[in-house]
Order: sequence, then C-alpha cells, then structure tokens
Amino acid sequence: MPIFYNEKEKTFHLECKNSSYILGVAYDRYLAHLYYGKKVEMLHPSRRIVSRELGFSPSPLEFFKDRKVSLDTLPQEYPSFGYTDFRIPAIIVEQENGSRITDFRYLKHEIVDQKPAITGMPSLRSEDGETHTLKVYLKDAVTQIIVCLIYNVYHDRDVITRHVQVINQGKQTVKLKKVVSCSFDLHDKDYQFLQLHGTHCKERHIEITPLRHGITKIESRRGSSSHMLNPFFALLKKDTTEDYGEVYGINFVYSGNYEGAVEVDQRDTARVQMGLGSFDFSWTLKPGETFETPEVVMVYSCTGLNGMSQTFHNLYNERLIKRHYHHPIVVNNWEATYFDFNQEKLAALLKSAKGLGIETFVLDDGWFGKRNNDESSLGDWKVNLDKLPGGLKEVARLAKENGLNFGLWFEPEMISIDSDLYRAHPEYAIKVADREHAVSRCQLVLDLSNPKVCDYIVDSISKIVDEIDLSYIKWDFNRNITETPNQELCHRYVLGLYSILERLTTRYPHLLIEGCSGGGGRVDPGVLYYTPQIWTSDDSDAIERLFIQYGTSMVYPPTTMVGHVSVTPNHQTGRVTPFNTRGIVAMSANFGYELNPQVLSKQEREMVKAQTKTYKNLRKCLYQSDFYRLRNPFESNKDCCWSFVSKDKKHCYVMYVRILNGATNEFDWLKLKGLEPHRHYQDINTKEIYTGSELMNVGILLPRHPYDFHGILYEFKMVK
Ligand code: GLA
Repeated sequence: MPIFYNEKEKTFHLECKNSSYILGVAYDRYLAHLYYGKKVEMLHPSRRIVSRELGFSPSPLEFFKDRKVSLDTLPQEYPSFGYTDFRIPAIIVEQENGSRITDFRYLKHEIVDQKPAITGMPSLRSEDGETHTLKVYLKDAVTQIIVCLIYNVYHDRDVITRHVQVINQGKQTVKLKKVVSCSFDLHDKDYQFLQLHGTHCKERHIEITPLRHGITKIESRRGSSSHMLNPFFALLKKDTTEDYGEVYGINFVYSGNYEGAVEVDQRDTARVQMGLGSFDFSWTLKPGETFETPEVVMVYSCTGLNGMSQTFHNLYNERLIKRHYHHPIVVNNWEATYFDFNQEKLAALLKSAKGLGIETFVLDDGWFGKRNNDESSLGDWKVNLDKLPGGLKEVARLAKENGLNFGLWFEPEMISIDSDLYRAHPEYAIKVADREHAVSRCQLVLDLSNPKVCDYIVDSISKIVDEIDLSYIKWDFNRNITETPNQELCHRYVLGLYSILERLTTRYPHLLIEGCSGGGGRVDPGVLYYTPQIWTSDDSDAIERLFIQYGTSMVYPPTTMVGHVSVTPNHQTGRVTPFNTRGIVAMSANFGYELNPQVLSKQEREMVKAQTKTYKNLRKCLYQSDFYRLRNPFESNKDCCWSFVSKDKKHCYVMYVRILNGATNEFDWLKLKGLEPHRHYQDINTKEIYTGSELMNVGILLPRHPYDFHGILYEFKMVK
C-alpha cells in the first residue's frame, strides 16, 4: 500500500517510486505539510512539527504561553486566513455575518483503493489497483463546514492528484470566495519558476524566473485557460536541467479561470497552490450542499524536465485521453480559401487532393447560415445552400469520391448578434442586465450555465452528425468571456461545456473532436479529456511552431498537438521556409495540410506523397513512443531538435531544424537519447549502422546547412 498511516505519530506517507509526500497532524489539530521530494524511508518524530517562535506571528488563544505555535510559521496542507496565518489561504468562506475567518482542524481520515470520480468534471482514470486514495477531513467548528482533501497516489508514475470537497454541514448559507485544489508548503525557496506564457499565434513560450519573496502567480480571468498563461507551472531546483535534477510540475485539469501561485514568506519557505481562480469568485453553498473542485496533477521528477514531461505524456496518453481514435492526415481549407468558397471550388480542391495520401477533408468556417465573413450566423448550424447547393451531404460525397473522409468546423459556444438564434433567443447570450454587450470578433458567448442552451448545442450538432455520419469535428472557441456578473457563472459555464462534451462523446464514441480556440487558447487537460487533439496555434509558420510545440511539449504529449503544412510566404509571418522543413515540423504532431493542393507544383505534389507515406509509418510509432527534447530553441535561437523513440526502442525519429544559418560550418554533433546502448541502429537514409551508445554519446555529425531553416528528418531502426 503506497499510503502509510503512522497512528502513533499521526503522519501519512504517500509513497511513489522516487518521491515521498508526507503530511501529519500537528498539535493534535492542524494538518501540517511535512515533506515533498526525493524518496525518504521515514521522518524522524522530531520533524513532525517544525515551528519556532517568530515576532509578529501570533498564536491561537489555547497556546497562550507557547509562543512558537503559530499558523503563520507552521507548514500546512490546507491553510485558511485570519486565524494567525498571514500567507495566502487555500480557502476563504464568507459567512452570513460577513466574517471570512475559519479554523479548519483535523477530524478524521480514510484510505481507500478506488479513485473517486469528480462529479461533472473530467479527471484522470486509474486501473484496478493502480492508485490508492487518502481522504483527510477537516472541520471548522463555528461554521460546521467540512473540507475533505483527496489525494490519489499513482505509485509507479511519481504522480499525486488532488482535489477538494467542501461540505456545508452547518445551518447558514455561506459563500465560497476561494477554494484551491492543492496547497502545500515547501521547506525552502531555492527554485526557479517555469511558466508557459503567450498570446494568440504565440502560445506556450517558456519563461523561467527565480522565485523571490512575495507571490509569484499565474492566472486566467478570461473564462478559458487562455493563450496567455497555461494552467501549468514547474518548480526547478537551481541546478536542474533537461536531463538532471529535481522538478515539481503542477497542472490543472480545468478549462476555465484558474490561479497558480507560490508565496515565498519571511522564513524563506514556499507555499505552492493551484486551483480555481479566486478573482471575483463567489459560490453560494447552502446547508447540506457540497462543492467539489477540479483535479490538480502533481508530478515529481528527479531526472530533470524531460523526466517530468515524459511522466505527464505517459499519464495523459494512458489515463486521460481516450485512445481508440484514428488520427487522420487532414487537409483543411481555412488558409486555402478562408470564407471564399462554394461547392465548385471545394470540388476542385478535393479533386486535387486525390491520390496524395491525405485521409480527411475538414471544411472550416463559413459553411452555415449566411456566413461569408466573421460578422454573422454563429448559432445557425444549418448549411448555406447558396454556397453549397447540394448541402453537406454533397460535400461529403465529393470528399468520398476523392478518397477522403469528411470533417466539419463548428464554434458551438458562440452566437452572432446577426443570427436567427439571437433574434429568437437573445437571452441565450451572456449579458449583464443594465449594460451593453461587449463584442469580440463580432460575436457573443452563449450562456452554457443555462441547460436549455446546452441542449440546443447538443441537438444542433447531433442532427448534423446523424445526417452525414460525421466522424470528425473541429471545435472552435474564438473569444473570451466578458460581462460576467461574477466568476460563479464562469465556473458554471465550464461545467456546462463539460456536460455538452460528455453527452456528445458518449453518444458518438468514435467521433474525433479536434479542440481549437483561435489555435491554442484552450490547451489544458480538461479539454484534452474530450478533444484528444488540439490545433496548437493559428500560427502555422514552421519556425514559430518550433517554439510553440517545444514549449507545449513541457506538459502535453506531441500526439495531442496538430501541425499542418501551409503555403509560403506564410500567412502569419510572411516567412518563406522549405517545404521539407514545414513537413518535418508538422509531422511532429497530428499531421495535415492547411492549403489548397491546387497550388502545389508538380515537385511539391511528389513531396506531399512522400510526406504522407513517411507519416503513416511514423504514426505507427508516434502513439507508442517517448519524446526527447534534444536542442532548445529558447536557449540558443540557433536550432531546435526533438526525437520520438518507440517504447520498444526499435525505432527512433529525429526532427532537426536549423534556424538562421551561419557561414562558419562548425562541427556540430547531435547526441540522441533513449536508445538501447548495446543494440545496433541503421540510419534508414544512409544505411550506415551505429550502436545506440555511439549515437547517444558521440552523436550524429550534422551536415553543413545549405540555407536558413534547413530541416532534417532522421530515421533509425534497430537492426541487431
Ligand atoms: C480560428 C481557428 C482557425 C479557423 C478560424 C475560422 O481562428 O483557430 O483555424 O478555424 O477560427 O474562423
């Protein structure tokens, strides 16, 4: 059992393969955090309470003379504010008399071997016997509110997931103003804070800063997890690198407003938190009601960032994402036509896609209502017969005729003011009574906290899925939420979204939904649970994508990203890059094309045929592989490289891209990772054979690069 309870000491040891998480009951009442880090056998009893007297840190009355007892200095598991602790609280409960003070004390605990599901929200699965769960109940005597802290231990993965239930057993209605899913106090402050920041067309760039005194915080107040700051951060020990050293990675299984924070206090300890965003948050909890938070995933690695990422990748591939989907090679018409298409144009596009090895055609925005630009029709999910006189059935037939399946774009959560839906149901849009709407991309957001709106979305989509037997949807979300009376609505919105996705994925288990939010504005484990691949960014430029995909791979498996080859000059950056390089970068994700094959030269058509053939082989190994980052573009700006090594170590694909070229022709040895050192590998292009140890320790001598943005795809196969 990876959860040990020491009755005498009142400590709980959550044990993973390489790490220990220890908590205990201090002074017979407070739940203290004792340790999180590299595995230890046990803690000496004297370590159970770490507290010293400190000026200006008050004591509860019952410790009148014992001045070293203060919640301000005690490392804790789920602190509240106002009763001697001045650091950031994990929970704030506003009571009928306006007081926000609570004093949660240990009540009881239980250890179970069944991971509890979270009502109405996605969470990680667990196989039989894989996880054990500790539930610790705390109680505030005045309000009679119970907090149940739930810890799930994935022993073999170095993963602990946490979430919280708040149960109102009192007589008064209270307002929850803050409820994070995890909080713990690390002993020291000597960490670097790694976050993934960005904007539209520049998502998940890596930023690393040292922790300082005060609060380091990431959050979203946009109603979605956002392009700007992903709900993830990592704490790196000062000497940690890609392959060595300790890292704690924290990721939130949630698609709405969140906050992640680390507070370094006066004693140089670090309080770490992740959970629902508390900005403007208010949730009414009546007597007898329970509030449940989303799940936080905590990964510990003592093998650097790559170790952390591989743990996240394996966990999400095996326990978050449903894996029965076929991820097809796609051609999408967005950058090919934008809104300017009709049946004839699509017929020609589809004809030119025939025989290239592409598997699915995705018809993007503009097929419904009277939508010829982004000013109208969201919500009117009926085909535009002026543009497509044969309806969607005819487009699907044309695709079939050319050997392609059919996929369709929706933006289900939105409504245009100029739409039949808005004219019939203006109350479906989120709005504050006495103020005008704020528009973004000329559109409003539907109120998914209203079950009627959720039914409307499920019905509209189901009708089309049934009518044309649709197997692929691109699900977009192209603006953030404004005019929310308070953040309770934002949380109810996300619950509404999950309920819609749950209904659709249950009704159509083989319908592949590609997530999208102006590219990568909603990339988080919450949506990944339902949409196993996500259009990583609206920036399709291969060089920009190196940074975006490299940063995204910190947490999310490359097999959840989508990468498409688009034309040059690139529509977002104007950059001209080689066709081969564009292919290599896109092939590191779910592969496809974002162009009209009619514009391809004869030579490019041959290259597409070769790329789709290569990708089909690569795809066999991609979903069963380990990902290694080999060259960091954020560090050198010179090049970028990563590799996929199949789990059985028999295949290895290496994607290398030189950014700007130099004239000096330096000797540059690229060292591979993750191979079997004593086995022999053949380079499929040159047919040369090397041992795994040579490829890893000596490396491959990179060629002289002929021009900027030169890309190379290496394939190695174990031969003996
Ligand atoms: C978003 C998506 C694009 C495209 C457009 C259509 O920006 O990210 O890929 O689908 O919407 O309006």
